[in-house]
Amino acid sequence: MLEIKNLGLKFQTEQGEVEILKDINLKLENKKIYVLTGPNGSGKSSLAKAIMGIYRATSGKIYLDGEDITDLDITERAKKNIGFAFQHPPRFKGMKVRELLEISCGEKALDTCGLLINVGLCANDYLDREVDSSLSGGELKRIEIATVLCRDLKVLIFDEPEAGIDLWSFRRLAQTFQDMNREKDTTIIIISHQERIIKLADEVIVIDGGRIKEITTKEKILADIMKNEAEGCSLSCEKGGVTDAKRLG
Ligand SMILES: Nc1ncnc2c1ncn2[C@@H]1O[C@H](COP(=O)(O)OP(=O)(O)OP(=O)(O)O)[C@@H](O)[C@H]1O
Ligand SMILES: [Mg+2]
Repeated sequence: MLEIKNLGLKFQTEQGEVEILKDINLKLENKKIYVLTGPNGSGKSSLAKAIMGIYRATSGKIYLDGEDITDLDITERAKKNIGFAFQHPPRFKGMKVRELLEISCGEKALDTCGLLINVGLCANDYLDREVDSSLSGGELKRIEIATVLCRDLKVLIFDEPEAGIDLWSFRRLAQTFQDMNREKDTTIIIISHQERIIKLADEVIVIDGGRIKEITTKEKILADIMKNEAEGCSLSCEKGGVTDAKRLG
């Protein structure tokens, strides 16, 4: 279990101190999928980075299976089996996809082919390509996801995994998340705005203005989305109706 207690994160900027995360409290269980959602700039990626140790919390504590990991750096947390797939993955000029998978996965990389298939890529086309700017954003994203899928992780965070990924590959990826959830005990945290991802969630965590606004069910969030869409629709219909009536008149 991953437990976050009263976590806060502040940055010093040219404009002064900014508070990015405020009093975050979460208990995330094994073998569950949590979708973390909320408006742009609300702090989702920052929370993920604080869990991964990329950002160091300014206050509060993080526990993994009861062990205090707050002061561990990113490498130490990776060794404790916390994994993170970035919103904007880095490129590695001069390194082939095969090599990146081997470095990330160790001996488990023997099934490089299966790994790429799990993210909707045809292995023969990609294993010998360089992880450089010749890869499209969606291809790079999927390769990065493959580098974390091969590891036996306790906590695995995906930051907007669907961004730039086409519908067919997305279906494959969603299936991969579900398979992983069925086969492993990993706590999976997926940052997303997408209805298709929210549908995978055991629980949905809504973050707004750096605070947890709500921890709820996918049914409630999906109903909220439907309601907002319906309200938006009736407003625009009303507008259209008025315009049309005027035209007709
Ligand atoms: N290193 C940093 N220094 C200063 N401010 C930062 C830093 N990282 C993030 N922020 C600020 O923290 C806030 C939250 O950013 P974050 O990237 O966590 O948002 P997000 O919820 O992931 O947004 P999005 O949906 O656009 O990805 C933003 O206002 C951002 O500008
Ligand atoms: Mg983000």
